[in-house]
Amino acid sequence: MSTRTRAVILISGGGSNLQAFIDQIQSGNLAVDIGLVISNNADAFGLERASNAGIKTSAIDHRQFESRLKFDQALMSEIDSVQPDIVILAGFMRILTEDFVNHYRNRLINIHPSLLPKYPGTNTHQRALDSNDQWHGASIHFVVPEVDAGPIILQGRLSIDANDTSDSLQQRIHKIEHFLYPLAVKWFAENRLSIDIDKVLLDGEISAEQLQTFDV
Ligand code: GAR
Repeated sequence: MSTRTRAVILISGGGSNLQAFIDQIQSGNLAVDIGLVISNNADAFGLERASNAGIKTSAIDHRQFESRLKFDQALMSEIDSVQPDIVILAGFMRILTEDFVNHYRNRLINIHPSLLPKYPGTNTHQRALDSNDQWHGASIHFVVPEVDAGPIILQGRLSIDANDTSDSLQQRIHKIEHFLYPLAVKWFAENRLSIDIDKVLLDGEISAEQLQTFDV
């Protein structure tokens, strides 16, 4: 029997984070098998990235369902068909029902382009600029029913430059994300993570490695 961690990755768009996982797996740095990539948008470029890497894909269009719950039920049944150890949200732009989140409790993770709890929701780069923040970044967290909340596994931050725009921040944050997300999943796959109420511990303690500063 394989001891590798099996993942399902959910996307909605470009899938650059998905690509980062594929690259790390192919170069032997991440002992994870991606059993399935699902998109709610059949045109998502990420589906092409998955197919090019020989990964099974599926598109489930949320607009075909009469309710959020019905869509989530279809999603769950597709995900469970490959019995994943972890479900990774990588730019999946749908709000998930409590039933869905509870079904994957402690094995459902998300990446969000802000230093949570700052700026849940959308437009995070502009909001950081508008607030004259010194720091901006990305957070990887276990998912709870509340949107863009939940115990934080790992954050990466960068210093906002005077000439940064929303677009430049988006590009800089993407670079950070492509390093951080495979690292967080590596920690998960190596069983190094545990949850202590609302905190994530790495090897049993809160670690300085869980907040990294980047010069990108
Ligand atoms: C990423 O920047 C991710 O943080 C963000 O979507 C982007 C997807 O990019 N996620 C959210 O905003 C979730 N609230 P990608 O498709 O190139 O990986």
